[in-house]
Amino acid sequence: MPESILSKPILLNAFDMLVPVHQSPGLWRHPDDESRRYTELKYWTGLAQKLEAGGFHGIFFADVLGQYDVYGGNADEAARGGVQFPMLDPTLIVTALAAATERIGFGVTASVTYEQPYLLARRFGTLDHLTNGRVAWNIVTSYQDSAARNLGLGEQIAHDKRYDRADEYMDVVYKLLEGSFDENAVVADRERNVYVDPTLVRGIGHAGEHFTVPGPSLTEPSAQRTPLLFQAGASARGQAFAARHAEAIFFSGYSAEMTRGWVDGVRDALEGEGRTRDAVKIFSMATVIVAETDEAAEARLADYERFVDPDAALALFAGWTGLDLSGADLDAPLEYASTEGNHSALASFTKLDPTRVWTLRELAKFVTIGGRGPVIVGSPSTVADELERWIEVADIDGFNLTSAVRPADLENFARLVSPELRRRGVLPEITPGTTFRDVVMGAGSRLASDHRGASFRTPPFSD
Ligand SMILES: Cc1cc2nc3c(=O)[nH]c(=O)nc-3n(C[C@H](O)[C@H](O)[C@H](O)COP(=O)(O)O)c2cc1C
Repeated sequence: MPESILSKPILLNAFDMLVPVHQSPGLWRHPDDESRRYTELKYWTGLAQKLEAGGFHGIFFADVLGQYDVYGGNADEAARGGVQFPMLDPTLIVTALAAATERIGFGVTASVTYEQPYLLARRFGTLDHLTNGRVAWNIVTSYQDSAARNLGLGEQIAHDKRYDRADEYMDVVYKLLEGSFDENAVVADRERNVYVDPTLVRGIGHAGEHFTVPGPSLTEPSAQRTPLLFQAGASARGQAFAARHAEAIFFSGYSAEMTRGWVDGVRDALEGEGRTRDAVKIFSMATVIVAETDEAAEARLADYERFVDPDAALALFAGWTGLDLSGADLDAPLEYASTEGNHSALASFTKLDPTRVWTLRELAKFVTIGGRGPVIVGSPSTVADELERWIEVADIDGFNLTSAVRPADLENFARLVSPELRRRGVLPEITPGTTFRDVVMGAGSRLASDHRGASFRTPPFSD
């Protein structure tokens, strides 16, 4: 039996969304698929419990605020294919999942473009209390004009400008969650009749280019104060933002080799921000199709391929990138074009990998199973070997795992691959009561003292 080649444990996030089709267009039609249950709380609590039993560190929920309406100039194709539409708000299920589990963490995507930081800080402060420190925030700036039009902006703020604004946004959140309450401000002293010592709570007096927030925070300090911070900006500006704020970063690359180039860039950017090259944990997206044997897993993939929906995949890709590729020559080489959408989705299939030229036809086929990440197929041992190879070659820390047939692929992973990873010693048990930050970063519940957010602590304290 193969032993692990790794010198560190593997981090596992499930990557999901409260929608009928997340990353694998068409697969909702597979007879084993249960995506139609995405509106049922029991579907999600059941999945969370199975993932927790399988040693997953977190479930990370994607979220967008508009329809995918770029392809063909309307949202019909995306609606027909159930592509991230209709959808539910992921923040609202987290407390129910926390009540049904003890160890697994919850990553929630929330945009900094359409909501004031004062409200967002309250919501994450609340979630951190109610999950006992098991919440993470995937900070996104959003990439859809359809969201901007419905949220009062008419069109999106320009790509790099969104990140400039997001920098100030983060400082407001840090000031609220790290800086407004001293550690011992909430005394709840019956004898003295003092609930909060007003001398230990202060306004933050933020007056910047985009936000004016006197403070203080409405929530009292929680186990993590600031939620564990995830980010996925992959453009040059996005990477600079991630290097400043993220504790963990997501990427979607289709090969370990091309992902490595991107990871090296992130680690350089971290040094540029005065952080160490390993100051963030890096997760890459992957879809695992596992069965007892390699042959059975390959047969499973062949079965899935009968249900793929390349047109819906193109609607998804157009929505990510802001590029309407309807009517384009399916066999012409794909070329990079800059838009106000998500830069990295197109870059992955063009300029990030000079060794490979993609056509639209190939791209549509690829995206139908597992979006922009690889599809890893095989027995538990084959899959574990491939995950380990990715970690070594791409220099990453773990995976964002999606289901093609939902939730079967994630459940099969927990049932078949997790025991193999445990046997190899790379999936240690999580101790109940450990915060999500401590589980992922392994250095306590609070932001590291060299993280930008820690500089807003008044007075400074240590964990
Ligand atoms: C694994 C992964 C998950 C993402 N999830 C979301 C999401 O849920 N909502 C969202 O608006 N953007 C999401 N993004 C997009 C990023 O926030 C960002 O817009 C994208 O990576 C492009 O960044 P760039 O324009 O800096 O290249 C995700 C990206 C990746 C790689």
